[in-house]
Amino acid sequence: MIVVVGSTNFDIVLKVHHLTREGETSSASLLQQYLGGKGANQAIGVAKLNSKCCFLTSLGNDWAGGFLSNKLSEFDISLFANRPDDFSGQAFIEVDDLGVNRIIIYPGANGSLNKDFIDQNSHILSKADLILLQGEIPWSTNLYILEKYGNKCPIIFDPAPAVPIMLEGIEKATYLTPNESEFSILSGRQYKSLEEMIEAARLFQRSIGSNLILKLGENGCAYFSDTESFFVFPIEGLEVVDTTGAGDSFNSALAVALESGENIRDAVKFAVLASGISTMSEGTSSAMPTGLEVRKLKSKLSENQPELVDLDDTESYLQYVQYLHKK
Ligand code: RIB
Repeated sequence: MIVVVGSTNFDIVLKVHHLTREGETSSASLLQQYLGGKGANQAIGVAKLNSKCCFLTSLGNDWAGGFLSNKLSEFDISLFANRPDDFSGQAFIEVDDLGVNRIIIYPGANGSLNKDFIDQNSHILSKADLILLQGEIPWSTNLYILEKYGNKCPIIFDPAPAVPIMLEGIEKATYLTPNESEFSILSGRQYKSLEEMIEAARLFQRSIGSNLILKLGENGCAYFSDTESFFVFPIEGLEVVDTTGAGDSFNSALAVALESGENIRDAVKFAVLASGISTMSEGTSSAMPTGLEVRKLKSKLSENQPELVDLDDTESYLQYVQYLHKK
């Protein structure tokens, strides 16, 4: 069983020509409302991939809390929700013509997902085969879970959004899955090139010891651990509509594959496929793929498309450098 602990948000998505600039007032061509939040998206992603999922979250005592609870009940998820006297979490999302997004979150009830609630649900967490966490609930709660359950089962921590305080304890996670901007925040610097960022990720992994998966979106994904490092190429030729939630889809698929006993290389390749599919439709939780969709995309891929190179092997490393320079 996979236990997801994290946020649920009411997502308000505005389709815009370009992301709004400082001081600009622009008009959106479409408004959509969805069940979202990184925790909810990841729980739904796990359920849609047919794994048993328990979801511990916090919903507001407002209209949106009722809406979100009803929506969550449409999925095969065991839901354990805290209901503080607060607004539900909300996310205000702009998506531009290229499918690129920008998100502002109001945490609301997610900010009340505290240690007491975790203790009230210890009977669930103690049965987990794998725990999935993200950064939209208080860091103190995530740290508490990492400390209490980190020795009992693997924990995947998605530091999204990332804040520097996470560096105090982040190494307790088995797997860390930052994207580029989150990795910049955690490593405390900006990078001039992908190559430079990927090399920095190698050093960062050595300094903390957790397995590090650097999610690079349309540029693929790099993996570093104490024993191996590899790069997974992105899926070419996808018709991208909306990248929102692609990181969530990646994490759900990674969790499902690891829990079912896949090795890390196959698990990361599966996650890259799943997140690629999620970019091909609008919305977040609604865009999480099923296992059938992932298998269909895999069968369509050209046999000549390179999937993975070993970063510790000189020849493969050159293949990867060539790829980066072509970008
Ligand atoms: O990762 C996508 C999610 O980020 C959205 O659903 C939104 O709620 C924000 O949490």
